Amino acid sequence: MSATGVPTEVVVVGIGADGFSGLSPSSRELVLGAAVLWGGSRHLSLVPSVPGQSRIPWPSPLASGLPRLLAEYAGRPVVALASGDPLVSGIATTLLEYGAPVRVVPAVSSVSLARARMGWSFESCAVVTVVGRSVSRVLRECAPGRRLLVLSSNASTPAEVASLLTSSGWGASKLTVLGDLGSSSEALVSGHASSWSEVSPALNVIAIEVSGNGLASWAAGLPDDAFEHDGQLTKRDLRASALARLMPAPGQLLWDAGAGAGSVGIEWMRAHPTCRTVAVESDPERAARIARNAQALGVPDLEVVEGRAPSALAGLEAPDAIFIGGGATREGVLETCVSSIKPGGRLVVHGVTLETETLLAKAYADHGGEVTRIAVETAAPVGTFTGWTPARAVTQWAWLKP
Ligand SMILES: C[S@@+](CC[C@H](N)C(=O)[O-])C[C@H]1O[C@@H](n2cnc3c(N)ncnc32)[C@H](O)[C@@H]1O
Repeated sequence: MSATGVPTEVVVVGIGADGFSGLSPSSRELVLGAAVLWGGSRHLSLVPSVPGQSRIPWPSPLASGLPRLLAEYAGRPVVALASGDPLVSGIATTLLEYGAPVRVVPAVSSVSLARARMGWSFESCAVVTVVGRSVSRVLRECAPGRRLLVLSSNASTPAEVASLLTSSGWGASKLTVLGDLGSSSEALVSGHASSWSEVSPALNVIAIEVSGNGLASWAAGLPDDAFEHDGQLTKRDLRASALARLMPAPGQLLWDAGAGAGSVGIEWMRAHPTCRTVAVESDPERAARIARNAQALGVPDLEVVEGRAPSALAGLEAPDAIFIGGGATREGVLETCVSSIKPGGRLVVHGVTLETETLLAKAYADHGGEVTRIAVETAAPVGTFTGWTPARAVTQWAWLKP
């Protein structure tokens, strides 16, 4: 993301719910002395009028309007207003992404105010933002006894979060909604997720003390029944083995090619909140199922591309790792994956047919790597006894691109 031209400097001044009077003398001077002041309408209305000052509300939609706004004020200094700490889920982060030269003058963040009211140390809680995003992001963070602070989108977010927690095994969690923090109308309401009926103000942060028996593990190899599937699922032990070799790391991108139920891509994203997945799946029903699984398992930002590899892979951002769970014999798939992956990237391919095995043997001869044959047997009732039920053996080729 970059704009064609940018201001000489954008000073982003954080402002609290106590408004202009709550700013430090130097911040007030910055705001009043600006020739151009950007901000949300609510923030701009908090500042006393200044003759000759241009006040420009943020464009809507922001993503398409911001490059135009930056270009329009190219070569000029600008001051912008933002709530709390502009680098906490705030506009300063977005401006930086667009290449603007940003200087930040923070106020106290709503996260700090919420922690202060709850008596929660920085080290004892995690922060999740659902501002303009799916509330299901909260689910990845849930574990018994964990403390979460959720940045809400609006007044309905607390009820949505309570309902989600309840339907995901975390209904016993205690919620405290902290509204209008730092203003004269600051208010705090508490209750349990399963019986939530409180009314919340538009500006709120939700403090959650997680309790219940939902799914909490971040380890690869969740139980198969954690996923909705039609049988096209990389089973638990094979999934764990594949992910061990795919080696998810913060900020990295996986292509899950022929994603089926999406389980590998979903577990890749559960490894760290900054891990990303593009799941490519040609069957529309399965593509819709992948999206549902991603929501249910707390990684709603997983991107589903409905299409067939290799053509569906064209134009995608180069990945750090690729998993091919099926369909490796289709012409061009393996070659495209081998060439698309970044240097240092990992490729893992699973096959159960002789045709795929032949292909993988050749790939191993050409490129090296590691070939493993994995046969999993599970104990199950045989009459009144217990015997081994074998699953189809899988040949796995794992390769690290030099
Ligand atoms: C886009 S984020 C910006 C956060 C901001 N940068 C900060 O440091 O507080 C907006 C989130 O902060 C919350 N928020 C902002 N001001 C608040 C306040 N005074 N009381 C409670 N929540 C507030 C909003 O409800 C929303 O969840």
